[in-house]
Amino acid sequence: MLDTLTIRTQRTTASRLQQLDPERLEFGKTFSDHMFVVDYRDGEWQDAQIVPYGDMPVSPANSALHYGQSIFEGMKAYKNTDGDIALFRPYDNFRRFNASAERMCMPLIPEELFMQGLSQLIRVDNAWVPDAAGSALYIRPFMFATDGFLGVRPSESYRFVIITCPVGLYYNKPLRVRFEERYVRSAEGGAGYAKNAGNYGAAMYPTKLAQQEGYNQLIWTDASEHRYVEESGTMNAIFVVDGKVVTPALSTSILDGVTRRSVLDLARDWGMPVEERKVSAVELMEALAAGKLEEAFGVGTAATIAPIAVVGYQGQDYELPTPGTNSFSTRATTALHAIRTGQAPDTHNWMVAV
Ligand code: COI
Repeated sequence: MLDTLTIRTQRTTASRLQQLDPERLEFGKTFSDHMFVVDYRDGEWQDAQIVPYGDMPVSPANSALHYGQSIFEGMKAYKNTDGDIALFRPYDNFRRFNASAERMCMPLIPEELFMQGLSQLIRVDNAWVPDAAGSALYIRPFMFATDGFLGVRPSESYRFVIITCPVGLYYNKPLRVRFEERYVRSAEGGAGYAKNAGNYGAAMYPTKLAQQEGYNQLIWTDASEHRYVEESGTMNAIFVVDGKVVTPALSTSILDGVTRRSVLDLARDWGMPVEERKVSAVELMEALAAGKLEEAFGVGTAATIAPIAVVGYQGQDYELPTPGTNSFSTRATTALHAIRTGQAPDTHNWMVAV
């Protein structure tokens, strides 16, 4: 990517890279040396800079803390076999970030600022991009309100920040999940399609209850009937039913996942029927009983493709088939990895060099 913006860069004199153990990359724990920061004041974005990663002071009256004007993205950069670094579908994340900003009454980020901030930051911290199988540089762009004001109204000032961390797998074994039939992640007309911090905070209590019962995650169902699947935990959910790839259609309560979209594109490339529609828990359990539920998995940037091994439904656990080497989810995992690391042609132009 060509630099068209001048971003003031202050490099650290004390890199922490030597302390990183590339064999033990724990999600979200160790951050790269630098971060990108830009502030919104007086109606414009100003003072874009790359600075050493570190704490940021906030007012105790900060309106993001009190009223939740805070949004984020999750994306990844990969190193190919020649050592070149590329981002996976960054324009999709950029568009979704601004859709979240609009929903939360926050200012939009210009494309040039988002993309240049990303690419210049990753070039400064290029040595932090891991290359072990299954690893990547996880990138977390986020924006929060910075007014110190307790009146309830959209803040007038904001900060946009990008931090990055080298990561391995988010889930390292097949998941146990259960349908959630009491609590709700989001209702139609709510903010479930946006990546705002509150969606994740509000999901923690029902998820904790499921975890106390031995599950890793929930499968959220719709707010009015608890009948139709929405998402699974921090991921979208995809099923293979009788040879068809089936997933809940997008709505205002479902996040428009970039991995979801990519996996559906691969299915279409491979000539598999794809159905984006309402999918009920009853339909899935009946398909399982009839031997037609071939695969169930979550898809997300952090989770990549996470197979579901057990599903809990109305107090009982059901085992799902184990994906074989020829299963759709295994083939999609391999294909995505090959595209991301330059080992297969990028026919959709998903990769963007930094
Ligand atoms: C992601 O997959 O990037 C997410 O944002 C999910 C989660 C880690 C919050």
